[in-house]
Amino acid sequence: MSEVTLTIDGKTVKAAPGTLLIEAAKQAGIEIPQFCYYEGLTLQAACRMCLVEIEKAPKLMVGCTTPVAEGMVVHTDSPTVAAARKGTLEFLLANHPLDCPVCDKGGECELQDMVFRYGAGESRFTDIKHHVDEKQWSPVVFYDGPRCILCYRCVRICNEGMGVGALGIVNRGVLAEIAPNKGDHLECDECGACIDICPVGALTSGTYRYQTRPWEMEHVGTICTHCSNGCKTTLGVRNDHIMRGNNRDRSGINNEFLCIKGRYAFDFVHHEERLQTPLRRIGDKFEEVSWAQALEIVAGKFSEVKSRGGQFGVIASNHTSNEETFYLKKFAREGLGTANIDHHRTGDIATLLDSLSGKVNVLSTVQDLYKARAVLVIGSDLAQQHPLLSYQVRANFRHHSAHVYVVTPGPVREDKYAVKSVRVSEGGELAGVEGLRDLLAAETELTILYGDAIKGEAVRRLVTFADSLGIAVKYVPLVDYSNSRGAYDMGAIPGDGGMSYDEILAAPALDVLWVVGANPLKNRSLASKPFIVVQDLFLSETAKRADVVFPAASAYEKNGTVTNVTGEVQRLRAAAKVMGTKSDLEIMGLLGKEMGLALGIWKHDKIFAEIRGTVRGYNVPLPVITTGGAAQTAAVNGRVPPTAFPDSIRSARDTLFTSGSLTRYSKMLQSVRESPGAVYEG
Ligand code: SF4
Ligand code: SF4
Ligand code: SF4
Ligand code: FES
Repeated sequence: MSEVTLTIDGKTVKAAPGTLLIEAAKQAGIEIPQFCYYEGLTLQAACRMCLVEIEKAPKLMVGCTTPVAEGMVVHTDSPTVAAARKGTLEFLLANHPLDCPVCDKGGECELQDMVFRYGAGESRFTDIKHHVDEKQWSPVVFYDGPRCILCYRCVRICNEGMGVGALGIVNRGVLAEIAPNKGDHLECDECGACIDICPVGALTSGTYRYQTRPWEMEHVGTICTHCSNGCKTTLGVRNDHIMRGNNRDRSGINNEFLCIKGRYAFDFVHHEERLQTPLRRIGDKFEEVSWAQALEIVAGKFSEVKSRGGQFGVIASNHTSNEETFYLKKFAREGLGTANIDHHRTGDIATLLDSLSGKVNVLSTVQDLYKARAVLVIGSDLAQQHPLLSYQVRANFRHHSAHVYVVTPGPVREDKYAVKSVRVSEGGELAGVEGLRDLLAAETELTILYGDAIKGEAVRRLVTFADSLGIAVKYVPLVDYSNSRGAYDMGAIPGDGGMSYDEILAAPALDVLWVVGANPLKNRSLASKPFIVVQDLFLSETAKRADVVFPAASAYEKNGTVTNVTGEVQRLRAAAKVMGTKSDLEIMGLLGKEMGLALGIWKHDKIFAEIRGTVRGYNVPLPVITTGGAAQTAAVNGRVPPTAFPDSIRSARDTLFTSGSLTRYSKMLQSVRESPGAVYEG
């Protein structure tokens, strides 16, 4: 039978066999209340909130575990059902403290909503409520036991979604409580997924609790600025201050997922050390100067060096928007006449695109990873370095039994469910992959994710190997940061004999070093003594060496687009404003104007139109982007030339709790870092 026909509240509904009543009703626009049910997680049937009346059934049935059947007649809002819901709520409230006026969840609490709709105004319970004190399990997670309705959503999301399993239940009956894995504290990913999935205010976050009310904030959907996975995060903003991040509406490519960085590590925006005034060097000290003065000094220097044919070195960012990087490349090439532009490259995208020349449907999206029949992870600890991709592969295994293969130098979370995990020494990844030939060739299709161990010629060898398997193969070239992919695609790489990142730092006679949103001197030295101009949020190691520093806005303070690790373009929306800063685009636009350059208008939407028209593969549908969707760029080669500097490609090996130089300015990340952590800890 291809479809089942049933009636719900008088409406004829068709659904696939096996569909749960709660889902069939939702598809027909009928809401069945729920607490414990959560799409994508195992069924629990713990709360009895979803009771419905099914004709010919002897008693009320649970909508979240009952599958549809042919001819079924269901009533979801009969007086009997309403009375049952009221009874369920009365039990749930027996020990619930009714402290809604001070509870963080007030105004967006599922229990509050249900009581408003079905509950009794008065309780028949006259006994003293059972009380236990609130507990703090980590800097991120607080648990208020009396508010808990024991729906087990938190336990399941942690175990199934995160693959961590840090939460369980202790005691029975009214004494039952959720408990953390280490008795009195959590040792976990600190992702906060348990907090956001909690239908009530039992779990609250260390960053947001008691700060504001939901209705006092604007809610701005933008893209996380940390790793390359491109999670959508909705920032709650009050008076230009970011109060929280979440993805509770499950929009974007990440569904409900966010790691600790997307959910909590926005606090660097308001760090007291943010630069808010341009600085210029006087001897070994900085002096605050006006924007006009700073622009005049830098424009004068750039013009002078250009006119005498001096040498520029331009270092671009892994964090600035596509529009900004595109404009910087244009500025360097056309405005300054230099091909010496590069960025800290963390994965080899260019050689892959070149190797895939002529092939179609070869780049995986984040969504594809959820459906791929087989996944091969090479040289990356996904749970640490690519949390969303790790989440997708895990969900794929849970829901579709995907075959997962791992070739890494150390243990990774995927080992737990991989068909085969191969341990190799660093540099031996490709040989490890070739040892899997027979297993991989037996698959019908394969998605390969590879880290910085595979670069240059090794990328070509990998593609040749994959071609020889005779199955459909898709790729994800892994890169580190929020717009590492865009930096490549926008052409912030050396061409026409230009110097690479390493060569710029090692050049003996550089006249100007211009660094936009990067910190190359954090752990590298500079061979020459150029005039240094830096655009940054903080006085980084590089900024400390600068002659002029411009205070720049972060990605949470600007509009534009970024491209994630799978080549999907998404829109950035400005959520906050930090006084005294300007976006990198505005800084460059003003600088070009001061120099009298004709680089065109510096509005982000105009530049995005130019990108769509000129960058190969970037002619993505505008409505998808403007409505907050993700549009994958086409895998066309020739967008950027394959780089001649594969040795410059190296991952920063950030972990779940680090994010390059931003790490030290996020107090939340600092607070959860009990140990420095490392990739490959399993
Ligand atoms: S914060 Fe994340 S990893 Fe930690 S207990 Fe909650 S869901 Fe699990
Ligand atoms: S803490 Fe929240 S999510 Fe967890 S069982 Fe209690 S009510 Fe459910
Ligand atoms: S997985 Fe990456 S993009 Fe997603 S929330 Fe975490 S750091 Fe941000
Ligand atoms: S939602 Fe069905 S029993 Fe909880």
